[in-house]
Amino acid sequence: MNDHLFKQQIKDNARITEAALDKKLGLISQDPAFEKFCELEHAMRYSLMAGGKRLRPCLVMEFARIFGATPEDSLNYACALEMIHTSSLIHDDMPCMDNDELRRGKPTNHVVFGEAFALLAGDALITFAFETMAEPKLSDRQNLLAMQALSYYAGPCGMYGGQQIDLENEGKETDLETLEVLHAKKTGALIKCACALGCIAAGCFSDSERYKDAIKYAEAIGLAFQITDDILDVVGDEAKLGKKCGSDEKENKTTYATLLGIEKATALASELCEKAKAIIGKYPGSEFLCALAEYIATRDN
Ligand code: IPE
Ligand code: IPE
Ligand code: MG
Ligand code: MG
Ligand code: MG
Repeated sequence: MNDHLFKQQIKDNARITEAALDKKLGLISQDPAFEKFCELEHAMRYSLMAGGKRLRPCLVMEFARIFGATPEDSLNYACALEMIHTSSLIHDDMPCMDNDELRRGKPTNHVVFGEAFALLAGDALITFAFETMAEPKLSDRQNLLAMQALSYYAGPCGMYGGQQIDLENEGKETDLETLEVLHAKKTGALIKCACALGCIAAGCFSDSERYKDAIKYAEAIGLAFQITDDILDVVGDEAKLGKKCGSDEKENKTTYATLLGIEKATALASELCEKAKAIIGKYPGSEFLCALAEYIATRDN
């Protein structure tokens, strides 16, 4: 797939996601108390609509597409996952965690709204995600499996579990094995969730070959994605990233960049992406997902 078409498809998916997110946030203002009390919606909207690559919704929609559904079928799942992801960013930036002041090119949520509202905005995005998923667009069985996947991959064995390991490892010597588990959970889990949700929207469940391949693809790009995040934290361009570099060093974190060095970490990311391409390349219509794997290994934002 040529670069122009690839970028256009990313943009189109992001536009569809953002229009749907905006509409869903609009529901909050229908609460009769909203006229007087609207700070929470403002804090949720501030981070959710601040941009971002919308990579996870894109994966949901593209997995739905290659396995026979329309991107529109999977849109509620895509939005729900982006809400959970955004909540994780709001909380990740708070002073008790990474203590960062710039996200998606804007001051972080707690800098603008204060810590209490940042906490609430993150929490409210989590519950709003499940409400969004429960809309009766697909079958009850699909919605139930999708909610189970989202809870599992976000939860104590997934992203939150990864954030826990990340915090416990601050300032410690971390070996490669631990780092791999950490990355697979803190970042890999929601990426796996994205691919799983796309499959579920297309009616492919966990016992199918397609679902298993989607998860294998996700494992490879998920690790590669966090390796590039670690690299960009050292050598990235802040203007392109929309967040400050040097956060890992500031918080004393061992990362792939510090443990392997930039060169070896870069080589590992591209090796993982080749693996991902080999897994998904056999499916008709997988050109975009192959190009996405390549982008993840070489991204600068
Ligand atoms: C940032 O995720 C946090 C990590 C898991 C590395 P993204 O790089 O996808 O952030 P946005 O959504 O584009 O802002
Ligand atoms: C964040 O990892 C992962 C989650 C938000 C769950 P990082 O702490 O490395 O992400 P950035 O670099 O702040 O985006
Ligand atoms: Mg962090
Ligand atoms: Mg962080
Ligand atoms: Mg980082």
